[in-house]
Amino acid sequence: MMMFLFTLLLCLVKVKVIISIQLQQQFNKGGKPNVLFLVIDDFRPALGSYGERVHTPNMDQLAAQSIRFTDARAQQAVCAPSRISFLTGRRPDSTLLWDFRSSYWRQSAGNYTTIPQHFKDNGYYTLSAGKVFHHGPCSNNTDDYPYSWSVPCYWPTREHKTSKVCPGPDGKLHAYTMCPVNVTEQPGGTLPDIDSTNYAISALHDLAAVKDEKNLLMHHKGNKPSVINPALHTPFFMAVGYHKPHLPFRYPEEYKSLYPLHTMKMAPNPNYTKDLPPVAWEHWRDVRVGEDIPVQKEKDYYGPMPPKYHLLMRQAYFAATSYIDHEIGRLLSTLEQVGFANNTIIALTGDHGWQLGEHQEWSKYSNYDSATQVPLMFYIPQVTNKRWNHPHRFSLINPLNTITDFNTSCATSGFASDAFAELVDLFPTLSEIAGLTVPPVCPIDTFHTQFCSEGVSLAPVIHNITDTPSKVGIIRWKNASFSQYPRPTFYPSHKTNTPQLPEINIMGYSMHTKDYRYVEWLPFNHTTFAVNWLKPLAVELYSYREDPLEMQNVYNHTAYQNVVKDLARQLRQNWRHALPITHNGTHP
Ligand SMILES: *[C@@H]1O[C@H](CO)[C@@H](O)[C@H](O)[C@H]1NC(C)=O
Ligand SMILES: *[C@@H]1O[C@H](CO)[C@@H](O)[C@H](O)[C@H]1NC(C)=O
Ligand SMILES: *[C@@H]1O[C@H](CO)[C@@H](O)[C@H](O)[C@H]1NC(C)=O
Ligand SMILES: *[C@@H]1O[C@H](CO)[C@@H](O)[C@H](O)[C@H]1NC(C)=O
Ligand SMILES: *[C@@H]1O[C@H](CO)[C@@H](O)[C@H](O)[C@H]1NC(C)=O
Ligand SMILES: *[C@@H]1O[C@H](CO)[C@@H](O)[C@H](O)[C@H]1NC(C)=O
Ligand SMILES: *[C@@H]1O[C@H](CO)[C@@H](O)[C@H](O)[C@H]1NC(C)=O
Ligand SMILES: *[C@@H]1O[C@H](CO)[C@@H](O)[C@H](O)[C@H]1NC(C)=O
Ligand SMILES: *[C@@H]1O[C@H](CO)[C@@H](O)[C@H](O)[C@H]1NC(C)=O
Ligand SMILES: *[C@@H]1O[C@H](CO)[C@@H](O)[C@H](O)[C@H]1NC(C)=O
Repeated sequence: MMMFLFTLLLCLVKVKVIISIQLQQQFNKGGKPNVLFLVIDDFRPALGSYGERVHTPNMDQLAAQSIRFTDARAQQAVCAPSRISFLTGRRPDSTLLWDFRSSYWRQSAGNYTTIPQHFKDNGYYTLSAGKVFHHGPCSNNTDDYPYSWSVPCYWPTREHKTSKVCPGPDGKLHAYTMCPVNVTEQPGGTLPDIDSTNYAISALHDLAAVKDEKNLLMHHKGNKPSVINPALHTPFFMAVGYHKPHLPFRYPEEYKSLYPLHTMKMAPNPNYTKDLPPVAWEHWRDVRVGEDIPVQKEKDYYGPMPPKYHLLMRQAYFAATSYIDHEIGRLLSTLEQVGFANNTIIALTGDHGWQLGEHQEWSKYSNYDSATQVPLMFYIPQVTNKRWNHPHRFSLINPLNTITDFNTSCATSGFASDAFAELVDLFPTLSEIAGLTVPPVCPIDTFHTQFCSEGVSLAPVIHNITDTPSKVGIIRWKNASFSQYPRPTFYPSHKTNTPQLPEINIMGYSMHTKDYRYVEWLPFNHTTFAVNWLKPLAVELYSYREDPLEMQNVYNHTAYQNVVKDLARQLRQNWRHALPITHNGTHP
């Protein structure tokens, strides 16, 4: 028996090494692959290629050449904590950032290496356009430059988050939630995400020009200013962060025509969850306050959205998504034109999901599936695109020309996996597929280790699905994924959605297994960060076999007594005990 196990282990290790080498050899001239990292704000998997009725032909074309993870989750459903979490590869309890403003992890938690920093340290030219880090104190007001980036980050100037730029029926300008606009009439005749795409396109041209000196001369005959210092060269790690479909839904008006209101459907589970504890509820204040949303603005923490507005909001979210799809199409078609499509890894994700009327909820700020689930795909040239046989990789497809076509069949040439993925897995995954040192799993005392991660590389799953005649040593994959959300009070209050650290008194820990989602809301001390695991204030249990849409909390039903006991134990053991068991006996 021992001998057999030993041989099995050896064999599995060998398979893994061979496959890693093959992966490296796929890239032309043995050079390091570039990386293009796309992160879309507040983006649930609203994609044709994820089976939704949304016009996203460019992202679907990418999906058709990628592996997409269909069960990927953010660790906290709000921008800054999620971004700092996945960029450092650690969970919010290790970055000590659960809010927007309070701290910069290098000063408050530990001097953790970030994804772009690791690439920079390995000779990459790293650059960022748009919202990648959350702006402000949580990234030291520099988006972590110069640690993470080779050049200062590009931010589009005209965000106009709360300005009156949306034309109303009265002919005046308003600060609306739903805001289709004529772009030429917007300040500067543009929108922030168009600016970010233009910057990234310009940077790609410059990087390509640097690669090819002849090109360089030709390119600089034009009088376009160069954004890249030509003394530098590839490989590059370019991150592009899109603001939409974040509120307000300010998008080019033509995309609205893709979603006629009479074709819009309500969420399949639009009612309140039965027996939801009040602490789990978020009251979508950011949506509620919109001038154009006819609901109680203050102190009506439970008021529903009128059905017509339910449909209008979904229409606006999807239209803003199709707009972003077009921007991504412009960027990816440039990547191909300048000759980078076959040596650039592309990762695409959202920082967290967004509730579109499920359970009477809107926005994020909760542990519901619709708030934590994100799209996650990896394009690895010669690995994930081997079933793609079109001459072009990334043609620009205008979403406006795909009126009746929610054609997901093209996505079948891509690969899909329902293996659990968490955004903390991005750091080890990108490192491994680019051939860099993979950050090891952090020790229990995470604070004193600069280079480690609290996720695992998804490469074994990618190999297993795309490549392998034999199994790549996965004995059991990750069997749970974890998210959390803080609250100030047990009952809804005006700080419920975004409490600042000194206001946080409760932490809701959510664990997702194949069959259940289990949540405990626990007392949290915002001075010591101690969690009182002995005194749950509320518990939630959703059984996916009977209730995939999380419509009823069944934690106190006698039939689930043993399940609750078991899940309570597993939640306390936390993510380390859910890690994959692979060739080396524990985790990768
Ligand atoms: C990558 O693309 C370039 C230009 O499109 C081509 O010259 C080169 O041969 C390709 N390399 C591989 C490995 O496909
Ligand atoms: C943090 O790490 C960076 C990059 O390795 C290093 O330059 C810096 O000196 C470190 N800061 C501290 C306070 O250790
Ligand atoms: C953060 O920014 C401040 C002000 O610019 C600077 O003094 C400090 O050194 C920065 N922190 C780190 C860790 O670089
Ligand atoms: C957008 O605004 C410009 C400038 O006012 C105008 O010429 C154009 O016709 C408008 N486009 C649409 C579709 O209304
Ligand atoms: C939601 O609640 C309403 C009113 O109680 C009810 O009529 C409707 O059937 C419920 N819808 C679903 C999908 O359960
Ligand atoms: C969907 O796309 C596939 C592959 O591009 C194509 O063969 C098929 O005809 C398309 N179906 C529809 C309904 O357009
Ligand atoms: C590996 O592939 C096999 C069959 O192709 C599949 O059954 C299994 O679920 C995969 N494992 C993982 C972890 O993706
Ligand atoms: C939090 O911990 C501090 C230090 O132990 C203690 O003084 C304080 O009373 C605690 N706060 C709560 C609300 O328990
Ligand atoms: C479970 O708890 C809810 C909310 O506290 C209560 O309304 C319900 O009656 C309880 N159900 C059972 C079976 O105890
Ligand atoms: C996940 O794996 C751990 C460790 O092997 C085990 O204790 C736990 O019961 C498993 N959980 C599920 C939901 O399978």
